[in-house]
Amino acid sequence: MKIIAVVNNKGGVGKTTTSRILAEYFSIIKHKKVLALDMDPQANFSNRYLKMEIDPYQQEGRIPPLHPSYDPHAKDDEDWDGRSSIAGIFFGEMVFPYTTYIDTLEISPSHSSKLLLAEAVTREEVVQKVYDQLSKFLNLADVRSSYDMVIIDTPPSKGPVTISVVRAATHLLIPSIMEPQPIEGIYGMIHLWKSETLRRPNHDPLHLIGVLPNSFDRRGIIHKDHYDSLKHEMPDYVLQSKIARRLIYAEADADGAVPPSIFMYPDKNLAKQEVLLACQEIEERMSSYVD
Ligand SMILES: Nc1ncnc2c1ncn2[C@@H]1O[C@H](COP(=O)(O)OP(=O)(O)O)[C@@H](O)[C@H]1O
Ligand SMILES: [Mg+2]
Repeated sequence: MKIIAVVNNKGGVGKTTTSRILAEYFSIIKHKKVLALDMDPQANFSNRYLKMEIDPYQQEGRIPPLHPSYDPHAKDDEDWDGRSSIAGIFFGEMVFPYTTYIDTLEISPSHSSKLLLAEAVTREEVVQKVYDQLSKFLNLADVRSSYDMVIIDTPPSKGPVTISVVRAATHLLIPSIMEPQPIEGIYGMIHLWKSETLRRPNHDPLHLIGVLPNSFDRRGIIHKDHYDSLKHEMPDYVLQSKIARRLIYAEADADGAVPPSIFMYPDKNLAKQEVLLACQEIEERMSSYVD
């Protein structure tokens, strides 16, 4: 089971967009059994596949809808509020992923207040517990036998929740806009990757897929300049493919977008073509590592 973490501690760089693209590519195009995990309290990734509801404990927060298998009258469900999120792993709860409109894609969504609580822990022994929870969940025999790939969207931070994701991942992907602030985030993430690599035993490596340039302005020179100098500085890490800045990506993010996935656009669509190329390059880079 491959576990791809999409990380960058800067916000608005394309983590959620990239997570969607990967989850939909592997499920729709490659027919893999994919589990999507939304570790960001903002719940944008979850919102694309589920009708998230308002979190009663946090005005701008979101909680998952009632799970289709929940039966309020069943004895078994007496101690369950009927909602299940990936944040449950930090509170000793069972996690039941939700099906989506794509046959081979399931999602375990965000839960804003629970993820914020996990992110805010400070006592050393609790922090250590948070770090380990996602690895424990993804190592369950049931999870391992149910999915081929796990795609994890993360919050814009380097806090305990992000660390737990990095610890559980087999591969890291860093989307970034080719501008100074987001590029700073790339350095931070490469640093995190290196320290995690040192911590791990040899038989359990964390592979860096690389940096995916997003919202790339093909006409201006600023993005190209930053891309060229980053490519020069870290030639092995920067992907050849780029995702251009296109209205279609923002539109695809809107509720009720039709078609719901970029991969359902006609083949002649330029955005579909460029994301296919990017996903193929990501796949090639992943298979170049021998596990
Ligand atoms: N290539 C792109 N072209 C146009 N808009 C984009 C592109 N990538 C992302 N966006 C939009 O920019 C915003 C931030 O992207 P998002 O993926 O949510 O970033 P993050 O998850 O890192 O905060 C979203 O509204 C998204 O729709
Ligand atoms: Mg996001």
